[in-house]
Amino acid sequence: MPISIVIDRSAAAPLYQQIAEQIKEQIAAGKLMTGARLPTVRQLADDLGVTRLTIQSAYGELQAGGWIEATVGRGTFVSQQPRRPLRAAAGTPPTAVHVIGDILQLSESSGIRSLGKASPDPALFPAEEFWAVLGQLLPHSAELAGYGSAQGDPALRLAFAENVRERGIDATPADILITAGVTQGLALTAQSLAQPGDTVLVEQPTYIGFLHQLRSYGLNPIAVPMDDQGVQPEMLERIAIQTRARFLYTISTYHNPTGCCAPVERRRQLLEIAHRVGFKIVEDDIYAALALDAPPPPAIKSLDRNGSVVYLSSLSKSFMPGLRIGFLIAPQPLLERLTSLRMATDLVSPLLLQRTAAELLKSGCLRRHLRRVIPLYRARRDALLAALALHLPNEVTFTQPTGGLSCWLTLPRRPGLQDLPRQMVEAGWAVAPGEVLWADHDGDLHLRLSYGCCRRIR
Ligand SMILES: Cc1ncc(COP(=O)(O)O)c(C=O)c1O
Repeated sequence: MPISIVIDRSAAAPLYQQIAEQIKEQIAAGKLMTGARLPTVRQLADDLGVTRLTIQSAYGELQAGGWIEATVGRGTFVSQQPRRPLRAAAGTPPTAVHVIGDILQLSESSGIRSLGKASPDPALFPAEEFWAVLGQLLPHSAELAGYGSAQGDPALRLAFAENVRERGIDATPADILITAGVTQGLALTAQSLAQPGDTVLVEQPTYIGFLHQLRSYGLNPIAVPMDDQGVQPEMLERIAIQTRARFLYTISTYHNPTGCCAPVERRRQLLEIAHRVGFKIVEDDIYAALALDAPPPPAIKSLDRNGSVVYLSSLSKSFMPGLRIGFLIAPQPLLERLTSLRMATDLVSPLLLQRTAAELLKSGCLRRHLRRVIPLYRARRDALLAALALHLPNEVTFTQPTGGLSCWLTLPRRPGLQDLPRQMVEAGWAVAPGEVLWADHDGDLHLRLSYGCCRRIR
């Protein structure tokens, strides 16, 4: 179908914007299909009686927003993955479900520079080693075609038990349950430690996916303020006593979204309060392998002498999120309850992928991969922090992550800024709006910028 554009020279909107908007509308309505070729700059300029610069500006805006792709020598085409409208509607407070959906969608859209998703860069995955290991498992096909153990493949549990020694944790394969990522571990833990209506403590701000889980299980997340060393101990004690909370969920090592890392003394204080007041700590250690400056402090679990901590981690940030391989370590009899609930949910994780992960850990592939990618993530973090320092006014503050994948911005309360994430998407940048990462929004405006996939930052 030929492109149809009507321009209004008396309108306030500049000509390039009118043209870009009409092309967007036609793509969104399916009138211009994926892969359709757009007229050349010269053709369209002649047809509409405007300058080539006007068309170049319109195409530039569409390209930045992910609507079209230009290939030198071939032409300009409607993107293979054009963007759908954002689910978080303009002018209404975004919900966790909408924001998670938008972040995932935008990260797949070409032309969008994604600072929205706290994920490792798929272009860095060690694909060849992965497929080679999978191929080496061919002689074990018959064994790996079955369900395997409910607690998880013993070879993988052994590999994780060896791996967590680096975090100071002394665990045996019998202490470990393999899960479908930390997400499943958190789901099982939340349902085992609390009943609908119970209160659960979370850091302020926290991981959006867990807030979503808690609310969908009918649990009531209450926020505990943080400082630059993590959860504030006095506030934790006071709020835990007042609310009779069942557990504290903490990402103490390279926190998502702030990148903050609690020093060992703070970790001891949290444990001591948990033991004294009588609640559990659910420690999400998913970012610990992404230490960008210095080795991280030991896990809270490694300091636990009273069975207060459930420890969770996965290969999602250090390796590949698509593997869906994670694990948790919990004291008995809780581990037994968690295993039983896992069996009732989806029985087991695919044995072939568990064994592949075990081989990758055993062969040192994960260690080599981390040695290769950490300098790249460090450079991306440094570039982002330098750009923020250079371009943002002083009234915008931001954290200085020493690991993990995210940086947290606090903006002044100024009218018009609420819609900033949406405006940034229009300009070709995806970021996570901060208010959905708060259990109890403080009214400030925040953004989370994640640098893991930001290849274009220089
Ligand atoms: C703190 C935190 N925990 C858990 C997850 C999800 O982990 P998984 O992919 O292992 O389910 C994420 C993903 O962003 C995260 O940031």
